[in-house]
Amino acid sequence: SASERLRGLRIVVSAGPTYEDIDPVRFIGNRSSGKMGFAVAQSAARLGAQVVLVAGPVSLPTPDGVTRIDVRSAAQMHEAVLAQLPADIYIGAAAVADFAPAQAASNKIKKTAGQDTLNLMLVRTRDILADIASHAQRPRLVVGFAAETDHVEAYARGKLQNKRLDLIAANRVGVSGSGFESDDNTLAVYAADGDSRVLGPAPKTALADDLLELIAARLPA
Ligand code: PMT
Repeated sequence: SASERLRGLRIVVSAGPTYEDIDPVRFIGNRSSGKMGFAVAQSAARLGAQVVLVAGPVSLPTPDGVTRIDVRSAAQMHEAVLAQLPADIYIGAAAVADFAPAQAASNKIKKTAGQDTLNLMLVRTRDILADIASHAQRPRLVVGFAAETDHVEAYARGKLQNKRLDLIAANRVGVSGSGFESDDNTLAVYAADGDSRVLGPAPKTALADDLLELIAARLPA
């Protein structure tokens, strides 16, 4: 059973959005509420795993039995997640910014009379999931999420391969009843060996249990 296989394992889960500061009062963020990743952390802890949850800025209570590390930016999340290695399993449910302001202004950016445009220089953030999956201390199982508005399967399989993941759970975003903020979701889970499964539609709490079943079944010895 999942609890026999996962008991005592170190599982690191990321959840929530990241906020990339533009200046002391503004940031670039996204719609992730943290619900999906917090549900995964909760399920894993109930199954007896030692769970560390690295959370972006969200307003959710810490699941019972879970160690929580709060971060704000993609850079901070990268550092906090990598610092948790070695681990048995990594599950990246966070919606991490792909680009962040090259530097945050130290004072509030002011508009000037007649100014119609403002250029912000953004630079790529480091990919936490890809770095974990190619690390010398790679966890035995690395699981990503993919949030897509279209071409869900093709993009998800692309990420599975490019980031060298074992599993990817794809969800549709930009529609109601799945993805960001909603209590419910549908996950299409693709494995590196070609297998796939659709989980849901169901509450994120139930999907988290189902996803951990799949993970437990696929854990290499
Ligand atoms: O938080 P909720 O409101 O419950 O919403 C849940 C969710 C939609 C956020 C979640 O189910 C989900 O899909 N999370 C991943 C969102 C996302 O950023 O997907 P992506 O396709 O942009 O990224 C692919 C994967 O790479 C993700 O596992 C992401 O954590 C990871 N990544 C991306 C960029 C980066 N710099 N580092 C990363 O680790």
